[in-house]
Amino acid sequence: MADLPVHHPSVMEAMGEAVVGTSSFLLSNSAALQQALLLVVVTFIICLAVRLRPRRSRRTAMTKLKQQHGCAATAAVAPLPPGPAPWPVVGSVPEMMVKKPAFRWIHLMMKEMGTDIACVHLGPVHVVVITCPRIAREVLKKQDANFTSRPLTFASRTFSGGYRSAVLSPLGDQWQKMRRVLTSEIICPSRHKWLHDKRSDEADNLTRYVYNLAAAGNSSSIVDVRHVARHYCGNVIRRLVFNRRYFGKPRPDGGPGLLEVQHVDAVFASLGLLYAFCISDYLPWLLGLDLDGHEKAVKEANATVNRLHDTVIDERWRQWKSGERQEPEDFLDVLITLKDDGGNPLLTIEEVKAQLQEIMFAAMDNPSNAVEWTLAEMMNQPETMKKAVEEIDRVLGRDRLVQESDIPQLNYVKACIREAFRLHPVAPFNVPHVALADTTIAGYRVPKGSHVLLSRTGLGRNPRVWDEPLRFRSERHMVAAEGTDVSLTENELRFISFSTGRRGCIAATLGTAMSVMLLGRLLQGFTWTKPASVASIDLSESTHDTFLAKPLVLHAHPRLPMHLYPTPTAT
Ligand code: HEM
Repeated sequence: MADLPVHHPSVMEAMGEAVVGTSSFLLSNSAALQQALLLVVVTFIICLAVRLRPRRSRRTAMTKLKQQHGCAATAAVAPLPPGPAPWPVVGSVPEMMVKKPAFRWIHLMMKEMGTDIACVHLGPVHVVVITCPRIAREVLKKQDANFTSRPLTFASRTFSGGYRSAVLSPLGDQWQKMRRVLTSEIICPSRHKWLHDKRSDEADNLTRYVYNLAAAGNSSSIVDVRHVARHYCGNVIRRLVFNRRYFGKPRPDGGPGLLEVQHVDAVFASLGLLYAFCISDYLPWLLGLDLDGHEKAVKEANATVNRLHDTVIDERWRQWKSGERQEPEDFLDVLITLKDDGGNPLLTIEEVKAQLQEIMFAAMDNPSNAVEWTLAEMMNQPETMKKAVEEIDRVLGRDRLVQESDIPQLNYVKACIREAFRLHPVAPFNVPHVALADTTIAGYRVPKGSHVLLSRTGLGRNPRVWDEPLRFRSERHMVAAEGTDVSLTENELRFISFSTGRRGCIAATLGTAMSVMLLGRLLQGFTWTKPASVASIDLSESTHDTFLAKPLVLHAHPRLPMHLYPTPTAT
């Protein structure tokens, strides 16, 4: 019964829908349709072959499994989670290609089926999607050890230099080594303290840059909040990793130059390509044909990031090897100078490059996305904005700028960011986890090798967990916080911020500092107003991802005494 599909949208139906659609739909989806047609032809041939093969009955197969595995048969007899009817061999890949983006198709399908756990067959892979915190806790708390691996994909392999880094590597010695390096040497309290002044400098640069963009009250000046937020995150992490804000010539206004724009754009392009339902990740025999253009896009984004990073890393490597450099100043120095028990270098240059690339990826998108959404929501909810600004003024007064040491007191500001993580996560799914052995989750069979995707939107917007889930209401996070600090972490997985468990994020302190400093400085330093032509901010989510559909564009008016707006340091 279990494996029998609950829902039967066939590929022909899916294609039929596409064929009778509008001409613009046809035009915009013609590439996807061609790819789907190709797959259908391939599928047809495979189906014929499969039909000609003698088939074992389900019952015989089950009996055999029970005999072979004894008690393990409990997992074997449980049904798979419900999901769309798979085609032989390719599973639901044809639907995945026609109904882009895949995450919207999957969520719609789950909603129609009324299920909090689903299984989508993509080629031979069982992709298990979860939208309920209780089930998510079963995966990442009760059975965490069984879900400690990551999928092997074209993008993750490329960006991690062949699985040399911590976040993207599957379970194994390399993952253990790099995670240990990060927790003991890079993302630990002593380093956080050591690099405080660099982060503080970047917060000052943010304030000064927005002040310059605001052109001291010129009403025609406009600030692209997305651009400012992403470049603040890019600046902070470049300072921590390379001890520099600029790859090229510093700009006097504190804004990014051409190379910094290329860097941040390539990082965001890379993040958009990671775990992006690429066909050949599920049907590896298609690797190299690049039917969906994914491989080319991954290679291009990776080449841009590498070109910018390698110049700095190669030169620094040379300086340490020649003895020209003696004092560590940043993450790069720390990684180059680590020694193993025998006093030999712990990391190769390839490992250093892969790990630093991953750190860049990890730091840019979450804080910038959360703060852009928070400000956008606040523009339509002046009361929320007022409360956050009042809190900042109450805690700090009006004669100094927000510092990291203020973060514990800024509970309402943190509640706003927490609400953005809940309602407007940076991506539809958490980083995937892979089942190491057959198991049962929520009574359903989850076979070894399954990719488990905790849905960030599904958890954070689950109506059985959250009252008025689609309303941005920061107060909901203040209730539990009477007398205690509001934290951005959410260990109960009622939404995903830093996740939890063996593969959980190790950088909650840094991530919180970046997010709160970004929002805190924007709210404290400026009064934000909508452009005259805009009645209210359009809070539509982009069709292709979970970012705000259009970058948030506002007027900023300085609200503090002029002497508080710092002059930038050229680094
Ligand atoms: C607000 C900022 C950040 C947020 C919200 C965030 C969130 C996350 C999430 C959701 C995961 C996946 C957890 C899972 O697989 O269940 C993760 C993993 C990870 N993050 Fe972060 N992250 C942030 C910043 C950073 C930064 C700045 C770094 C490093 C400099 C970092 C390092 C890592 C590492 C190493 C892992 C993976 C560990 C592993 O797979 O073993 N994160 N993060």
